[in-house]
Amino acid sequence: MIMPAAGSGQRFGSQSNKLFAILDGKQLWQHTVDRFHNRGDVRQIVLAVSEEDESTFREQIAAISSAAPIHLVRGGATRSESVGAALDAVKKFAAESAVANSSTPTLVAIHDAARPLVRQSDLDRVFAKAAETGAAILAAPVSGTLKRTTGNGSETVDRRNTFVALTPQVFAIDVICQAYARDRGRMATDDAQLVERTSHPVQLVPGSADNLKITFPEDLRIAEAILNECRS
Ligand code: C5P
Repeated sequence: MIMPAAGSGQRFGSQSNKLFAILDGKQLWQHTVDRFHNRGDVRQIVLAVSEEDESTFREQIAAISSAAPIHLVRGGATRSESVGAALDAVKKFAAESAVANSSTPTLVAIHDAARPLVRQSDLDRVFAKAAETGAAILAAPVSGTLKRTTGNGSETVDRRNTFVALTPQVFAIDVICQAYARDRGRMATDDAQLVERTSHPVQLVPGSADNLKITFPEDLRIAEAILNECRS
């Protein structure tokens, strides 16, 4: 699986990567890794990190006892570039491993390191759908009223059938490699956009809205509250 972690976290407003912020006594990205590394179906974790953060991640990874090996690659200036760099590493692993020759299709799950609260039941469902169809993502139905600005004011967007894209986004390796080969470098805020531009349909799997992306400092307080509630 691929975990882009090379962002600067400008909107979070801290000097260092927001992924090093402490949530319930542990760094944010470690919570995220913990959700995946002991699942029997995750074979490798590839973290895309910035040059600046590489040594910090390397030291801390050495202390994690993970069933799935964790590798680091150098991320890029955009999320897509970071995922592209990790995908190059995943392609190599797949080519080297026996799995590439077996009848089980290799899936690549891409999950933002900044989403530490994804549920195991959601992972089970999105992995199963991707195994069946080759491309599936978690998505949460839009609950508010959607507006779009117009030249002189606003208009309301019909929210029926609208979803907010979450991660993981999970693809058969050939599907995601083809999408990145075709569109690498083109602006995309998620990976499914690139797959949608090929002819391969992407299935939406309804996921919990708890799976929030930590973007602003207040998101950390919400995440803390969700973790506390899960314990009670
Ligand atoms: O900035 P944002 O939180 O939306 O980024 C989503 C995820 O992509 C984060 O985990 C972030 O670290 C990662 N990212 C990346 N490389 C970038 C920008 C963001 O790996 N250049």
